[in-house]
Amino acid sequence: MAILVTGGAGYIGSHTCVELLNAGYEVVVCDNYCNSVPEVLERIKQITNKNIAGYDCDIRNRAGLEKIFSENSIEAVIHFAGLKAVGESTREPIMYYDNNISGTVTLLDVMKEYNCKSIVFSSSATVYGNNPIPYEETMVTGDVSNPYGRTKHFIEQILGDVYVSDNEWSISLLRYFNPIGAHESGLIGEDPNGIPNNLMPYISRVAIGKLPQLTVFGGDYDTKDGTCIRDYIHVVDLAKAHLCALNKLKSDPHSIDAYNIGTGIGYSVLDIINAFEDATGQKVNYKIGERRAGDLPAFYANPKKANEVLGWHAERNLHDMCEDTWRFQKNNPNGYKKD
Ligand code: NAD
Ligand code: UFG
Repeated sequence: MAILVTGGAGYIGSHTCVELLNAGYEVVVCDNYCNSVPEVLERIKQITNKNIAGYDCDIRNRAGLEKIFSENSIEAVIHFAGLKAVGESTREPIMYYDNNISGTVTLLDVMKEYNCKSIVFSSSATVYGNNPIPYEETMVTGDVSNPYGRTKHFIEQILGDVYVSDNEWSISLLRYFNPIGAHESGLIGEDPNGIPNNLMPYISRVAIGKLPQLTVFGGDYDTKDGTCIRDYIHVVDLAKAHLCALNKLKSDPHSIDAYNIGTGIGYSVLDIINAFEDATGQKVNYKIGERRAGDLPAFYANPKKANEVLGWHAERNLHDMCEDTWRFQKNNPNGYKKD
């Protein structure tokens, strides 16, 4: 029996494939490589010394998915495949709804056809919107300000309906906070196309000299140093949460549960810059600029439910996150593209 990992060549998916293979799972990846490269699967093989089956397939391609399910015995799906850039989603909402929502609906329909009814879904802390912090799973969600976030909220609702419709489905909604860092081998990590939207890849590209300066988006928030607070989590800790979620689905058939996958600790943008400089010895050239539209001043998780129910705990600290980010950046100055 195998686990199907959609979006398995991407940043979080690739780290999760490594953890799955190391834990003895057979892994099948479905990715259309719209935001990743097939080389990632070679790196995963190099790290684990295990084989991994890769299909170049879009999750909206029903026939392609049917081929994957007919050629493999898939026992559960970890569903990462999706577009994730908040700004782009406001410019291209139809593309986001089609890729993320239509793609998920097609995937669920094919899963049902092949009687595979266990899924772990990559959701986001963004579904909490303007709730008070720390965010807890019992809060009302959906007050989201952009199409990307709405795709996460809508998919959570769709999965809720699927769960109610058929008592064989078991579903885990993992609400990620801010994943950063990379595998300690320095072989896989985050490699965004073009100019990064997110903080950590931006910092590491400034540090390596590919970008001249980081702009800190806003220095006048009502926080300890005026910059935004987020809950940064090491991507390997996040990857391991998926294995805990899979175990829980096995022990608890017909369940649906949301879990916050964060550390519970909030760091400011300046904390991250300072930690990066301390961990790597690199100076990060930055200036304080205007606020970015749509940014919340502060959010972080209450991870108690994941700690207690999944038996999962984040084990890596901010120093590890910075050191591992830098190792990947240094070893791969041009990302996965050959130098
Ligand atoms: P990523 O872009 O690195 O990985 C997504 C992968 O899915 C890529 O390899 C891409 O090629 C693939 N993909 C996209 N659309 C596809 C489609 N239609 N068919 C097949 N493959 C497709 O992103 P990531 O950071 O690894 O995020 C993974 C998931 O986690 C996403 O669903 C994202 O929304 C969610 N998430 C990410 C963050 C974050 O900060 N990185 C936070 C919360 C949630
Ligand atoms: N930031 C900067 N400069 C930059 C980039 C980011 O100062 O060049 C700041 C942002 O203003 C924010 C913090 O760094 O305060 C983190 O920003 P990211 O873009 O890295 O992450 P966000 O918290 O904005 O977004 C993340 C995920 C989204 C998700 C969102 C809400 O990337 O997918 O959390 O859960 F929607």
